[in-house]
Amino acid sequence: MSTPGGADRLRVGIVGCGSIARAHALSYTGHPRVDLVGVVDIDQPRAEAFAETHGSTAFASRQELTDAGVDLVSVATPPGSHTEVAASLLEAGCSVLLEKPPATALADMDVLAAADAASAGSLYVVFQHRHGSGARRASRLLQTGALGTPQVAVCETLWYRPDSYFLPEWRGTWSGEGGGPTLGHAIHQLDLLLHLMGPWETVTARAARIARPVEFEDVSLGLVTFASGAVGTVTTSLLSPRELSRIRVDTTSGTLEVDHVYGYRDADWSWTPVPDPDAAARLGRDPGLPAGGGTDGPGTPLTDRDAWAASADQDRPSNHRAQIEQLVDDLLAGREHQTTLASTRPTMELVTALYASALERQTVARTDLTEDHPYYSRLDGGRPAETVTARLGTHP
Ligand SMILES: NC(=O)c1ccc[n+]([C@@H]2O[C@H](COP(=O)([O-])OP(=O)(O)OC[C@H]3O[C@@H](n4cnc5c(N)ncnc54)[C@H](O)[C@@H]3O)[C@@H](O)[C@H]2O)c1
Repeated sequence: MSTPGGADRLRVGIVGCGSIARAHALSYTGHPRVDLVGVVDIDQPRAEAFAETHGSTAFASRQELTDAGVDLVSVATPPGSHTEVAASLLEAGCSVLLEKPPATALADMDVLAAADAASAGSLYVVFQHRHGSGARRASRLLQTGALGTPQVAVCETLWYRPDSYFLPEWRGTWSGEGGGPTLGHAIHQLDLLLHLMGPWETVTARAARIARPVEFEDVSLGLVTFASGAVGTVTTSLLSPRELSRIRVDTTSGTLEVDHVYGYRDADWSWTPVPDPDAAARLGRDPGLPAGGGTDGPGTPLTDRDAWAASADQDRPSNHRAQIEQLVDDLLAGREHQTTLASTRPTMELVTALYASALERQTVARTDLTEDHPYYSRLDGGRPAETVTARLGTHP
């Protein structure tokens, strides 16, 4: 069944009834124009309990769900199953909202892109941090140049996961997770970074396994160059007790920053304009601006200092509800939703390049990541485990 532009109501389903599926179910059941038709999980008792909690029906298979007639299906299964599950739903003609990471390799991204192109439905990806009001403002103002030209970026995902987090047998392994925290955790900030900064060109990275019982990294650090000429750093860690998710963009007009952990509100964003030349002179600082100028480039007036504050609108936290409400509205209006699979490919390419650069100890360009690149099919490049261990170090 294809997406019904102009229809009154949307019929939706959920495949995978674990932790994050609850956020999908609550967003759908809280929407006045959505019917949660049914749910599916390979663990049938789990699907039944989930269906009862959310006033829906547990189906025994995806086929039964699609036969019941659904326009949109959320896929909230583990990353390694995303390609098979999402491709089969697209083949049945449904639109799909696929949890992050969309896939665990660029090769699978291309399988999904082909399934998307052949389907009556469309494939969208959950990156809820693009959809809070702060990111919407930031993206719009950066695109129009109202916040100046980005020059330097800092992107940090500094989280804490103790050894016990890796007790479930699928966690901490390439086969179970397809990658480490650069793929599984940092991908949210990396996606938002690219959403704000535009296309990236090269990455030079190092990764290390310092403390956790995992097959991949627990820390990664990268230097990124952007097509615009800007540069940035990205740091990912699971060893950071004071948790922080931060993106900072220094532009010719000021510093834009968001500082949160698992989701932001408007209050987590700040804009610090370049110092006023007169005030800076009184404080004995050199703002690096021409005397009496107060401009951030030819023809850019000082009133740009107010662009951030002036753009404030309704505060929308960056949660699943923000994206799902937008998606439902887009589909019912027959509009394309912004977070398409294609729009997330640069993010997966950046993740791929971070692994390739760290394990091969060389700079990787986005244009290097063709189908014959060793990291196109696997984020460990198909390297023997002992060489990955040698490159990353060993946990005690
Ligand atoms: N966007 C976010 O902020 C966010 C947060 C957490 C997790 N996630 C993502 O959501 C996905 C699920 O994560 P989770 O923490 O909910 O995992 P989970 O292990 O809690 O739940 C996964 C569920 O999928 C079921 N399942 C597995 N394979 C299946 C299949 N082939 N068909 C049907 N059901 C299947 C499992 O039985 C389980 O109930 C992952 O991709 C994860 O990265 C996203």
